[in-house]
Formats: sequence, structure tokens, C-alpha cells
Amino acid sequence: METKTAMIWGANGGIGRALVSQLTTAGWQILTVCRDVGPFEEDDSVIALEMTHITAEASLQQVVMEAGYEIDAVDLWVYTVGDITSAKVADMSLTGWQKIIDANLTGAFLATNRSLPLLAPKAHLMFVGAVQERLRLPGLAAYAAAKAGLEAFAEALRKELRKHPVTVVRPGAVDTSFWDKVPLKLPKDAMTPAKVADKMIEAYEAKHKGLLDLTH
Ligand SMILES: NC(=O)c1ccc[n+]([C@@H]2O[C@H](COP(=O)([O-])OP(=O)(O)OC[C@H]3O[C@@H](n4cnc5c(N)ncnc54)[C@H](OP(=O)(O)O)[C@@H]3O)[C@@H](O)[C@H]2O)c1
Repeated sequence: METKTAMIWGANGGIGRALVSQLTTAGWQILTVCRDVGPFEEDDSVIALEMTHITAEASLQQVVMEAGYEIDAVDLWVYTVGDITSAKVADMSLTGWQKIIDANLTGAFLATNRSLPLLAPKAHLMFVGAVQERLRLPGLAAYAAAKAGLEAFAEALRKELRKHPVTVVRPGAVDTSFWDKVPLKLPKDAMTPAKVADKMIEAYEAKHKGLLDLTH
């Protein structure tokens, strides 16, 4: 069977690593893109590409160029970069706001924009979003706005790229170090990153399009 290729942005994160692990086991070729390539440096089963920041244009250009040398085309493209903070609007600096919008939204645009030439004709694009309408809470304005924007972006993108399935995954709480960034307790029923990765792979196999709600 033909080897499939995945490109995973934010591959060193909790969900990213679970996805890399499961796809590697399933025999996929993987391009991991992250700031900290440490976890993949010694790993011959992946092609590790380093970026400096998700909105650093030159760095993303370099990543995409290197990817183009290494592989033929990407079958599954995943954006799992994300950042969160807890700050009320009254206390939030422009820099603090921008950091969250960059990681969750602007980076999604830029990584997509630069990656289009790498995509196989029917490549599936997946963005890890959130159940954003439930996150419109004090302290989470930037995160909720960014994830709402991500859904709007992905819906318009799906209408532009008609041959490509485009999915926004909406996990509930997932047990990763993402939770260390906010003064909130991880709910007892949090999913494992492995479970999220399973659902994403199932969605790829089913050619899922649109919102993929993992909360029920
Ligand atoms: N955990 C949850 O409960 C949960 C629930 C719903 C949705 N999500 C979403 O799932 C996605 C993955 O989250 P996770 O739980 O796996 O968290 P995570 O372990 O913190 O992973 C986040 C990833 O994003 C990267 N990142 C953040 N800001 C970046 C930037 N400016 N430039 C480049 N990379 C950046 C991180 O890289 P560094 O290691 O270099 O910072 C890391 O690879 C996020 O989009 C998050 O919003 C998570």
C-alpha cells in the first residue's frame, strides 16, 4: 500500500505527540513542525522541521521549502498549535492579546497559506479548535475569540478548497500541559490526547468535513 504523509504543526504538544505516535505506528511518513524539535531529533521515523514562531513568515517559508525537498505531497495536514492565557480584558496588554490570536488564528492562516503547494490533490486539512461558544468566559476573551475566528476561517477555506476535506476538531478538556497555563482544574472526565488522535485519524479515514465535536 502507498505510504501516506502527514504534516503536523505543533507536533511537540500533547495532542501533536499523540498523533505523531499513532500515525508512525500505522506506517505513515511524518513531517513534524515545531519550535522545540528536541523530542524528534533522535527519532528516525519522522522528518523534524524547526520553526521559530508560528507567525514568523521567513521561518515558515523555510519549513515549507525543506518539506518540499523531503516529501512528494502531504495527505493529512494538521494545525494543532494553540496557546491560552487567563486575563481579563481590563488587564490584558496588546502583546498578550496578540500572542493568543497569533497562535490560534493568524498562525493557522499563515501555515495554511504557505503549505498549499505541498498538498496532495485531495489532502485533508485539520485544525484543532475548541468548543469555543462555551469558552466565552471572564479571562478567556482572547482564546474564545481566536477559536471562534478559527472556525470561521476554516469554513471559508473549505468553500475555497472544494476538493479538500477541511475539519475543525472540537475537543472538550484534554489531559495535556496546556492546562498549566490557566488557573483551572483539569476536569475528571478529560480525554486523553491518544483518544483525540484516534478520533482525528478516524475523521481522516471517513473524509470528514466541517466541525468534529468530541464532547459527546
Ligand atoms: N488541552 C485541552 O484541554 C484542549 C482542549 C481543546 C482544544 N485544545 C487545543 O488543542 C491544541 C493543542 O493543544 P495541547 O493540549 O496539545 O497543548 P500543548 O501541549 O500546549 O501544545 C500546544 C502546541 O502549540 C505550540 N505553540 C504555541 N504557541 C506557539 C507559537 N507562537 N509558535 C509556535 N508554536 C506554538 C506549542 O509549542 P511550544 O511547545 O514551543 O510552546 C505546542 O506545540 C491547541 O490548539 C489547543 O487550543 C486543547
